[in-house]
Amino acid sequence: MNQEINSPFRYAGGKFYARKLINEHIPQHTYYIEPFAGGASVFFAKDKASKNWLNDIDKDLINCLAIIRDHPDQMIKRLKDERATKERHGYYKNEYKPKTKLDCAIRWFYINRTSYSGIMNMQNCYWGYGEKYSMRPENWPRNILRTSVKLQEVKLTSFDFERVIEEAPDNSFLFIDPPYFNADQEKFYVHSFAQDDHFRLSKILKKHKNRFKFLLTYDDSPEVRELYEWVHAMHEKEWNYTINRTDDQKNGTDTKGTRYKGHELFIVNYNSEKQIPLFRTQSFTHKIFK
Ligand SMILES: C[S@@+](CC[C@H](N)C(=O)[O-])C[C@H]1O[C@@H](n2cnc3c(N)ncnc32)[C@H](O)[C@@H]1O
Repeated sequence: MNQEINSPFRYAGGKFYARKLINEHIPQHTYYIEPFAGGASVFFAKDKASKNWLNDIDKDLINCLAIIRDHPDQMIKRLKDERATKERHGYYKNEYKPKTKLDCAIRWFYINRTSYSGIMNMQNCYWGYGEKYSMRPENWPRNILRTSVKLQEVKLTSFDFERVIEEAPDNSFLFIDPPYFNADQEKFYVHSFAQDDHFRLSKILKKHKNRFKFLLTYDDSPEVRELYEWVHAMHEKEWNYTINRTDDQKNGTDTKGTRYKGHELFIVNYNSEKQIPLFRTQSFTHKIFK
């Protein structure tokens, strides 16, 4: 029930590699909310709260989580004889016509597990399964079952984030992981996030800042620092991660993968332990909210 597990999905921009670091900053809470859940790596990695709400505007993603939560056996039955091949990936991507919610979940799960970086935007969704480092289909059922256990009683919705923030109960805790401010996120996600959406997010968080605690993660940029100059604290955080190449891209050869450093701002409206607040080093005259 309270198991700390990995996300069932591979997810571009997911917080898998930062999940432990993020966890250290999460305060005590009884109601946990992610308005931008994606692969929800932080939810799956942490202790489960008494109440939980995962939201993402992507309806197919949320449908897949809901089917895993409510009908894991049916999912497993349909996936148990699957193999991870480029042909099956092409079939699910281009030919398969889902008729039911279960069909949609099967398609989503298969494509996600076998695509490069789990990218589900069909313009940039390519075969990217590697025998050595991708989860093999024979392990999918176990993954689905433990995911289903953790998702029991979790509220799942596909609203725009504003509605979630408006409806978040007093004293809840929100982990907020929107698309980056300065990156070409349209490549990854099915729904694009415009500059105006970033402004909307800041505005609604400011409106509710005294009702609940939040930890917001963002790319470190002058615009983001300016948008959140009203918060309690911003912390610059770094972590290491490695990206494996797929067998396919390396024509059958394997490499150790490339090492990267994640660098983001953790923006909090509470005293997150042991942290020394950073002060802005640059000043910007452009004011976004007048
Ligand atoms: C950076 S990802 C979240 C990654 C997640 N924390 C993880 O660990 O996998 C951002 C997510 O925001 C979702 N999104 C984009 N626009 C949204 C909106 N207006 N409301 C709610 N979710 C949105 C995208 O579908 C995407 O899944």
